[in-house]
Amino acid sequence: MRNRLEIDPVTPAIGAEISGIDLTRPLEPDDKAAILQALNSHLVLFFRDQSLDVDGLSVLGKSLGSPHTHPAVPDLEGHPGIMAIHTDASSTTYAGRLFHSDVSCDRLPPMGSILHLYDVPQTGGDTIFASMIAAYDALSDSMKQSLEGLTARHDSAHNFDGYYGYDLAQSRDGEHPSNVHPVVAIEPETGRKSLFVNELFTKRIMELEPDESDTLLGFLFRHIRQPQFHCRFRWRPDSIAFWDNRVTQHMALWDYYPHTRSGRRYTIQELRPN
Ligand code: SIN
Repeated sequence: MRNRLEIDPVTPAIGAEISGIDLTRPLEPDDKAAILQALNSHLVLFFRDQSLDVDGLSVLGKSLGSPHTHPAVPDLEGHPGIMAIHTDASSTTYAGRLFHSDVSCDRLPPMGSILHLYDVPQTGGDTIFASMIAAYDALSDSMKQSLEGLTARHDSAHNFDGYYGYDLAQSRDGEHPSNVHPVVAIEPETGRKSLFVNELFTKRIMELEPDESDTLLGFLFRHIRQPQFHCRFRWRPDSIAFWDNRVTQHMALWDYYPHTRSGRRYTIQELRPN
């Protein structure tokens, strides 16, 4: 039976619920094209009732894009690009506590992520997504001009060291990634501009003095927190969120302690458009 993709936008700025597709089956080329077109329009897509095991997530992920190797968190064995996302009563911290785009500290930050949660609390554990296109568009022309040409350093030691309790010597590069990226990103396919600074990784605007950099980053982080740029996803077991890291940020809420929230994330280095 052919899929019939239905697209239900969540807010004008960001997010769409997608129904009428079974992601446990291999993606047909026209379904994949429709999903990528919807992602381009809505920036994050939500799917319900997708009962994927780790192999199924791997097949889905690889059909959409190449796997990204996380610099600090090990892949699930035999599954490049897939990491566990898990919190329970014994957890002392969790992933995604501040607005961020995944691993923006990398030299080539990953294009996107597919998060599948199979065990979720009755309430709580929502993820908030923010459109960096809407956030950029809402700035004044003068602020947009001031940001033109600026670059910012994205660090990771403060986030990864101790946070995941990993051994630096055994990490992907043997060191914490720290890289400089433009403050305003331009999407190559569409020319759309978006803000590419986030409060988890971005520490310094390179062309400014430290105080100036702190002030401007503080303003931008507050700006990004405004709810008109956001949508909020309430998870159910076997939900999926598929987001474009280049033009969105997200943060997860840990308001469900001591309950368990568990799933897996496939992180995409680069899309496979065909
Ligand atoms: C993440 O930052 O990828 C985790 C998001 C979540 O657990 O909702």
